[in-house]
Amino acid sequence: MNQKIINARITFRNSPIHILEQFTIKDMNNAYDQFRKHSGLDECVIIQTCNRIELFGKSKISDANKIQKIWAAITGIEEEEFKKNIEFVENQDALHHLLKLTSGLDSMVLGEEQILGQIKNSITSAREVKASGQHLNTLFDKAIRIGTRIRNSSGIGAGGISVGSMAVKLAEENIDDLKTKQVLLIGTGEVSTLVAKSLQRRGYRFDVTSRTIGRSETFCEAMGGSAVKFEEVLSGFDNYDVIFVATTAPYFLVTNEKITQAMRNKDKGMMILDLSNPRTVDEKVATIGGVKLMNLDQIAEMVEKNMNARLNKVKIVENIINEEVSVLEASMKRLDAEPLVKDVFKNIENLREKELQKALQMLDEKDERKIKIIDALTKAVVESIVSTPMNNIRKASEQGNPDVIDLATKLFDYKKPKQTD
Ligand SMILES: NC(=O)c1ccc[n+]([C@@H]2O[C@H](COP(=O)([O-])OP(=O)(O)OC[C@H]3O[C@@H](n4cnc5c(N)ncnc54)[C@H](OP(=O)(O)O)[C@@H]3O)[C@@H](O)[C@H]2O)c1
Repeated sequence: MNQKIINARITFRNSPIHILEQFTIKDMNNAYDQFRKHSGLDECVIIQTCNRIELFGKSKISDANKIQKIWAAITGIEEEEFKKNIEFVENQDALHHLLKLTSGLDSMVLGEEQILGQIKNSITSAREVKASGQHLNTLFDKAIRIGTRIRNSSGIGAGGISVGSMAVKLAEENIDDLKTKQVLLIGTGEVSTLVAKSLQRRGYRFDVTSRTIGRSETFCEAMGGSAVKFEEVLSGFDNYDVIFVATTAPYFLVTNEKITQAMRNKDKGMMILDLSNPRTVDEKVATIGGVKLMNLDQIAEMVEKNMNARLNKVKIVENIINEEVSVLEASMKRLDAEPLVKDVFKNIENLREKELQKALQMLDEKDERKIKIIDALTKAVVESIVSTPMNNIRKASEQGNPDVIDLATKLFDYKKPKQTD
């Protein structure tokens, strides 16, 4: 590829959740601005979920150090810390990784659906702030389509395993007779929906709370459960035996103080499952007698144990990805020739139009029917002369033959637009 596609990532594979959260980008617009201005990337897309922070970029030359430096400056983390956590790949490996993401092969819950929506949101946001351009827009659109097709044809996501269902399973495994317990779900977002679906499917009663009672009520109408007021819940957790927390609150909603207080009023134990990243349950609560705290890392272990059916599909998905990577790579390479091809077509069209008007003036032709015929004739002549060399340029680009592009650049006197830094 004339242009490089790079991927720099920190994910749950190398870094446990409490480490991963330190690399989280808080101000996305500023991050896009900094990466575009100072890391040498002329396009970029950031994917940030609870399990990963990833940067995809396009540039003529890739400089991992520069990218790391900017990432460190944005997050305030020492560059040294990145060495232990960051992975950096480019070109075919970056495309391969993106397909693993869209097909769900790299997810904590193999084949889960959410990542596809998160990737769609990431490319939409990057488009909105004009951080992505022709290369990454095309790459992501294609990767999303391929990922969807792979999921549908392989059945990798079949069986309804999700972070939510695994959390409920963990609760079942750790608590005797969950049906008799008071269960609370804090949050009404995507993950809470997964937890609620699973609780509902297994016949458990549960309360739901979020900052606005209206939102909790709407959630309960669709997902089951009973809406309770946020303030009521926060003032006394002692009514509950099992608490699922899945919010994006930037602070601890469930504090050590509140749980200590609650446990004073309880004669039974309590299990808290924090599905949030960054965490919204203070880890210190695990030291309180009778309290069992579990977070995303433990859920990840659970997921691994439950993946047998899906694991059998991994080989099939990997084979499809390997085939699709070459197709994707060819279309990326083809894009390298597109500015040149577009420019040539535009120049020739301008010339044709100019010469056509000159000829029509000389002929003093006013008959619309005849003008149309002459116009079509000139178009057909131009098309038949230019389309073969242009297609050959595209093909050469696809086959990774930059010499042909360079020669065509000289022959057609193509001036590359200056890169904005
Ligand atoms: N999506 C995934 O695939 C996935 C997987 C595993 C873990 N996670 C983690 O799970 C958590 C929830 O993710 P999500 O995808 O469900 O998010 P989401 O759909 O955006 O929902 C966010 C929830 O957080 C609540 N919230 C936000 N700020 C709050 C605050 N200051 N105080 C109280 N509640 C607040 C919102 O409630 P309001 O109605 O009050 O705004 C909403 O219910 C995140 O930490 C995420 O990293 C996500």
